[in-house]
Amino acid sequence: MHGTILILLKRYIQTQYDHSTWVNLLELAGLSGATFDHKTVYPDENLYALVDQAAAATGATAGELHERLGEYLVPDIMYMYQKLVDPTWRTLDMLEHTEHTMHRQVRREHAENAPPVLAVKRLSPNEVQIDYVSARRMGGLAVGIVRGLAAYYDEADRIAVTPTTSADGQRVSIYVQRN
Ligand code: HEM
Repeated sequence: MHGTILILLKRYIQTQYDHSTWVNLLELAGLSGATFDHKTVYPDENLYALVDQAAAATGATAGELHERLGEYLVPDIMYMYQKLVDPTWRTLDMLEHTEHTMHRQVRREHAENAPPVLAVKRLSPNEVQIDYVSARRMGGLAVGIVRGLAAYYDEADRIAVTPTTSADGQRVSIYVQRN
Protein backbone atom coordinates (compact mmCIF):
# COMPACT_ATOMS: atom_id res chain seq x y z
CA MET A 1 0.00 0.00 0.00
CA HIS A 2 1.14 3.48 -0.95
CA GLY A 3 2.82 5.18 2.02
CA THR A 4 0.53 8.19 1.62
CA ILE A 5 -2.48 6.13 2.70
CA LEU A 6 -0.67 5.01 5.86
CA ILE A 7 0.53 8.54 6.60
CA LEU A 8 -3.01 9.84 6.30
CA LEU A 9 -4.32 7.03 8.53
CA LYS A 10 -1.75 8.11 11.11
CA ARG A 11 -2.85 11.74 10.88
CA TYR A 12 -6.50 10.75 11.04
CA ILE A 13 -5.92 8.81 14.29
CA GLN A 14 -3.76 11.57 15.76
CA THR A 15 -6.33 14.28 15.04
CA GLN A 16 -9.50 12.31 15.90
CA TYR A 17 -7.92 10.69 18.97
CA ASP A 18 -4.35 11.54 19.99
CA HIS A 19 -0.73 10.67 19.38
CA SER A 20 -0.57 8.06 22.14
CA THR A 21 -3.50 6.21 20.53
CA TRP A 22 -1.42 5.93 17.37
CA VAL A 23 1.62 4.68 19.29
CA ASN A 24 -0.59 2.04 20.99
CA LEU A 25 -2.08 0.98 17.66
CA LEU A 26 1.38 0.48 16.19
CA GLU A 27 2.31 -1.70 19.12
CA LEU A 28 -0.91 -3.75 18.99
CA ALA A 29 -0.45 -4.21 15.23
CA GLY A 30 3.06 -5.56 15.81
CA LEU A 31 4.61 -2.45 14.22
CA SER A 32 6.13 -0.72 17.26
CA GLY A 33 8.08 2.38 16.30
CA ALA A 34 7.31 2.00 12.57
CA THR A 35 7.43 5.14 10.42
CA PHE A 36 5.98 5.56 6.94
CA ASP A 37 6.93 7.83 4.05
CA HIS A 38 5.22 8.92 0.85
CA LYS A 39 7.68 7.25 -1.51
CA THR A 40 7.61 3.72 -0.13
CA VAL A 41 5.13 0.94 -0.83
CA TYR A 42 4.33 -1.03 2.36
CA PRO A 43 2.80 -4.49 2.72
CA ASP A 44 -1.02 -4.27 2.70
CA GLU A 45 -0.94 -6.26 5.96
CA ASN A 46 0.35 -3.14 7.76
CA LEU A 47 -2.79 -1.22 6.86
CA TYR A 48 -5.13 -4.15 7.63
CA ALA A 49 -3.53 -4.70 11.04
CA LEU A 50 -3.71 -1.01 11.94
CA VAL A 51 -7.33 -0.64 10.80
CA ASP A 52 -8.33 -3.82 12.67
CA GLN A 53 -6.71 -2.58 15.86
CA ALA A 54 -8.22 0.89 15.42
CA ALA A 55 -11.63 -0.73 14.94
CA ALA A 56 -11.22 -2.78 18.12
CA ALA A 57 -10.11 0.32 20.05
CA THR A 58 -12.92 2.60 18.85
CA GLY A 59 -15.82 0.14 18.62
CA ALA A 60 -16.26 0.95 14.91
CA THR A 61 -16.10 -1.74 12.25
CA ALA A 62 -13.14 -1.91 9.84
CA GLY A 63 -15.58 -0.94 7.05
CA GLU A 64 -16.69 2.18 8.95
CA LEU A 65 -13.09 3.18 9.53
CA HIS A 66 -12.30 2.70 5.83
CA GLU A 67 -15.18 5.06 5.03
CA ARG A 68 -14.04 7.69 7.49
CA LEU A 69 -10.47 7.44 6.26
CA GLY A 70 -11.67 7.77 2.66
CA GLU A 71 -13.54 10.96 3.49
CA TYR A 72 -10.61 12.32 5.44
CA LEU A 73 -7.95 11.76 2.80
CA VAL A 74 -9.63 13.55 -0.13
CA PRO A 75 -8.26 17.09 0.40
CA ASP A 76 -4.69 15.74 0.63
CA ILE A 77 -4.82 13.46 -2.39
CA MET A 78 -6.53 16.20 -4.41
CA TYR A 79 -3.72 18.54 -3.45
CA MET A 80 -1.03 15.98 -4.31
CA TYR A 81 -2.48 15.22 -7.74
CA GLN A 82 -3.88 18.68 -8.50
CA LYS A 83 -1.99 18.90 -11.82
CA LEU A 84 -4.21 16.12 -13.16
CA VAL A 85 -7.45 17.72 -12.07
CA ASP A 86 -9.37 19.81 -14.58
CA PRO A 87 -10.62 22.91 -12.72
CA THR A 88 -14.02 22.65 -14.42
CA TRP A 89 -14.69 19.20 -12.93
CA ARG A 90 -17.16 18.68 -10.10
CA THR A 91 -17.78 15.54 -8.04
CA LEU A 92 -19.28 13.37 -10.79
CA ASP A 93 -16.68 14.43 -13.38
CA MET A 94 -13.91 13.67 -10.93
CA LEU A 95 -15.32 10.18 -10.40
CA GLU A 96 -15.65 9.68 -14.14
CA HIS A 97 -11.99 10.56 -14.70
CA THR A 98 -10.26 8.95 -11.70
CA GLU A 99 -9.41 5.65 -13.37
CA HIS A 100 -7.76 7.16 -16.45
CA THR A 101 -6.07 10.11 -14.75
CA MET A 102 -5.27 9.73 -11.03
CA HIS A 103 -5.15 5.96 -10.72
CA ARG A 104 -3.26 5.65 -14.01
CA GLN A 105 -0.65 8.10 -12.73
CA VAL A 106 -0.42 6.22 -9.40
CA ARG A 107 0.31 2.97 -11.32
CA ARG A 108 3.03 4.72 -13.33
CA GLU A 109 4.78 6.09 -10.24
CA HIS A 110 5.73 2.73 -8.78
CA ALA A 111 5.49 -0.77 -10.23
CA GLU A 112 4.13 -2.04 -6.93
CA ASN A 113 1.33 0.51 -6.71
CA ALA A 114 -1.97 -1.18 -7.42
CA PRO A 115 -4.95 1.12 -6.96
CA PRO A 116 -8.27 -0.64 -7.52
CA VAL A 117 -9.78 -0.93 -10.97
CA LEU A 118 -12.75 1.40 -11.13
CA ALA A 119 -15.17 0.95 -14.02
CA VAL A 120 -17.13 4.19 -13.94
CA LYS A 121 -20.16 4.83 -16.12
CA ARG A 122 -21.79 8.21 -16.46
CA LEU A 123 -25.39 7.06 -16.63
CA SER A 124 -26.71 10.60 -17.10
CA PRO A 125 -25.51 14.14 -16.31
CA ASN A 126 -26.54 13.54 -12.70
CA GLU A 127 -25.75 9.86 -12.19
CA VAL A 128 -22.61 7.75 -12.01
CA GLN A 129 -22.20 4.02 -11.50
CA ILE A 130 -18.88 2.85 -10.02
CA ASP A 131 -17.85 -0.80 -10.21
CA TYR A 132 -14.91 -1.37 -7.91
CA VAL A 133 -12.73 -4.47 -8.20
CA SER A 134 -9.88 -5.17 -5.78
CA ALA A 135 -8.68 -8.17 -3.80
CA ARG A 136 -8.07 -5.71 -0.98
CA ARG A 137 -11.81 -5.49 -0.32
CA MET A 138 -11.71 -1.81 0.59
CA GLY A 139 -14.98 -0.69 -1.00
CA GLY A 140 -15.71 1.26 2.20
CA LEU A 141 -12.74 3.48 1.36
CA ALA A 142 -14.26 4.09 -2.08
CA VAL A 143 -17.61 5.09 -0.52
CA GLY A 144 -15.76 7.45 1.84
CA ILE A 145 -13.74 8.97 -1.01
CA VAL A 146 -16.96 9.71 -2.94
CA ARG A 147 -18.40 11.46 0.15
CA GLY A 148 -15.11 13.30 0.63
CA LEU A 149 -15.15 14.48 -2.98
CA ALA A 150 -18.74 15.72 -2.61
CA ALA A 151 -17.63 17.74 0.46
CA TYR A 152 -14.52 18.95 -1.38
CA TYR A 153 -16.68 20.27 -4.22
CA ASP A 154 -19.27 21.73 -1.83
CA GLU A 155 -21.89 19.35 -3.12
CA ALA A 156 -22.35 17.20 0.00
CA ASP A 157 -26.02 18.14 0.35
CA ARG A 158 -26.74 17.27 -3.29
CA ILE A 159 -24.84 14.00 -3.71
CA ALA A 160 -26.33 10.67 -2.55
CA VAL A 161 -23.91 7.72 -2.35
CA THR A 162 -25.53 4.27 -2.33
CA PRO A 163 -23.55 1.03 -2.33
CA THR A 164 -25.73 -1.45 -4.21
CA THR A 165 -23.69 -4.48 -3.08
CA SER A 166 -22.03 -5.26 0.22
CA ALA A 167 -19.11 -2.80 0.56
CA ASP A 168 -16.59 -5.35 1.82
CA GLY A 169 -16.38 -7.70 -1.15
CA GLN A 170 -13.83 -7.86 -3.96
CA ARG A 171 -16.46 -6.38 -6.26
CA VAL A 172 -18.47 -3.44 -5.03
CA SER A 173 -21.00 -1.36 -6.95
CA ILE A 174 -21.72 2.19 -5.89
CA TYR A 175 -24.48 4.35 -7.33
CA VAL A 176 -23.96 8.10 -7.04
CA GLN A 177 -26.68 10.60 -7.80
CA ARG A 178 -26.73 14.39 -7.80
CA ASN A 179 -30.04 16.06 -6.98
C1 HEM B 1 -7.93 12.46 -6.52
C2 HEM B 1 -8.27 11.27 -6.93
C3 HEM B 1 -7.59 10.00 -6.45
C4 HEM B 1 -6.28 9.75 -6.20
C5 HEM B 1 -5.12 10.70 -6.36
C6 HEM B 1 -6.17 8.39 -5.73
C7 HEM B 1 -5.00 7.77 -5.36
C8 HEM B 1 -4.90 6.53 -4.78
C9 HEM B 1 -3.70 5.93 -4.27
C10 HEM B 1 -2.31 6.59 -4.27
C11 HEM B 1 -4.01 4.73 -3.76
C12 HEM B 1 -3.05 3.70 -3.13
C13 HEM B 1 -2.77 2.63 -4.17
C14 HEM B 1 -1.76 1.59 -3.74
O1 HEM B 1 -1.21 1.66 -2.65
O2 HEM B 1 -1.49 0.67 -4.52
C15 HEM B 1 -5.43 4.57 -3.94
C16 HEM B 1 -6.12 3.49 -3.51
C17 HEM B 1 -7.48 3.42 -3.53
N1 HEM B 1 -8.34 4.24 -4.25
FE1 HEM B 1 -7.86 5.95 -5.14
N2 HEM B 1 -7.41 7.84 -5.71
C18 HEM B 1 -8.31 8.79 -6.14
C19 HEM B 1 -9.64 8.65 -6.30
C20 HEM B 1 -10.35 7.53 -5.95
C21 HEM B 1 -11.76 7.39 -6.11
C22 HEM B 1 -12.69 8.44 -6.71
C23 HEM B 1 -12.07 6.16 -5.62
C24 HEM B 1 -13.38 5.49 -5.54
C25 HEM B 1 -14.51 6.01 -5.82
C26 HEM B 1 -10.85 5.55 -5.15
C27 HEM B 1 -10.76 4.34 -4.54
C28 HEM B 1 -9.61 3.81 -4.00
C29 HEM B 1 -9.59 2.67 -3.10
C30 HEM B 1 -10.79 1.91 -2.57
C31 HEM B 1 -8.24 2.42 -2.80
C32 HEM B 1 -7.67 1.36 -1.82
C33 HEM B 1 -6.94 0.24 -2.46
C34 HEM B 1 -7.82 -0.88 -2.96
O3 HEM B 1 -9.00 -0.95 -2.60
O4 HEM B 1 -7.29 -1.72 -3.73
N3 HEM B 1 -9.82 6.40 -5.40
N4 HEM B 1 -5.95 5.67 -4.59
